[in-house]
Amino acid sequence: MAVGIFDSGLGGLTVLDAVQKRLPEVPFVYLADSAHAPYGVRTSEDIFQLTCASVERLFNAGCDLVILACNTASAAALRRMQEAWVPSDKRVLGVFVPLIEAMTERQWGDNSPPREVAVKHVALFATPATVASRAFQRELAFRAIGVDVEAQACGGVVDAIEDGDNMLAEALVRSHVDALKRKMPAPDAAILGCTHYPLMQDIFQKALGGGVKVFSQANLVAESLADYLDRHPDMRGTGEAAFLTTGEPSRVSDRATQFLRRRIEFTAA
Ligand code: DGL
Repeated sequence: MAVGIFDSGLGGLTVLDAVQKRLPEVPFVYLADSAHAPYGVRTSEDIFQLTCASVERLFNAGCDLVILACNTASAAALRRMQEAWVPSDKRVLGVFVPLIEAMTERQWGDNSPPREVAVKHVALFATPATVASRAFQRELAFRAIGVDVEAQACGGVVDAIEDGDNMLAEALVRSHVDALKRKMPAPDAAILGCTHYPLMQDIFQKALGGGVKVFSQANLVAESLADYLDRHPDMRGTGEAAFLTTGEPSRVSDRATQFLRRRIEFTAA
């Protein structure tokens, strides 16, 4: 059995780490489309085509269920994939619905009408493509009323993280938080709407200030995956655990090892 975890690059490792801790008995096949990262500056059509190709690869590796551990793919491609592309015996799930459910104090799958929630001013940090899709705002509007969202497209952060340039990534995070605060001086919550950003969570929190509740996805996705697999034990697939990349395996392995602080060996997808 195996469940697929997909990201354009290394950011999905933040999700992988959490799901492995929550579900130690489940093998995961992680696929990083490193050759085409970052996705956040691409068109929706491009993101759709690239995401379908990677998910197909994970289906071929024996995964019946694939988690898009990438907000950009979830925002720009998931709905179209679910409506017109995913075969009926497979499932593809995204990462931001669990986060919005947590922020709007809802249980998994609670589809009751939108209502007032505790948070009123939310700062959203995400890639340019995710911000342009307005998918967060749409999902939020299904569940909550009276929430003011200010989005900041964080250009350059994913590239800096993928290149291992932490100093640049930190400087960019500080400047994106400054830019956000000029538009919304006192957010009460912030969403890290890109799975790369938890690798910079301390920098976001420090720049935002201690009073801002920072929501990131990894643990929330792990909980909802555990719940999903309980309800759908037949979706555990047939593959074996692996780390696959469309990029240069030794380079991607070194970066992944740095991030997860344990040896990770990627092979060519
Ligand atoms: N980790 C991806 C996300 O969550 C990064 C997207 C990119 O490649 O720009 O959006």
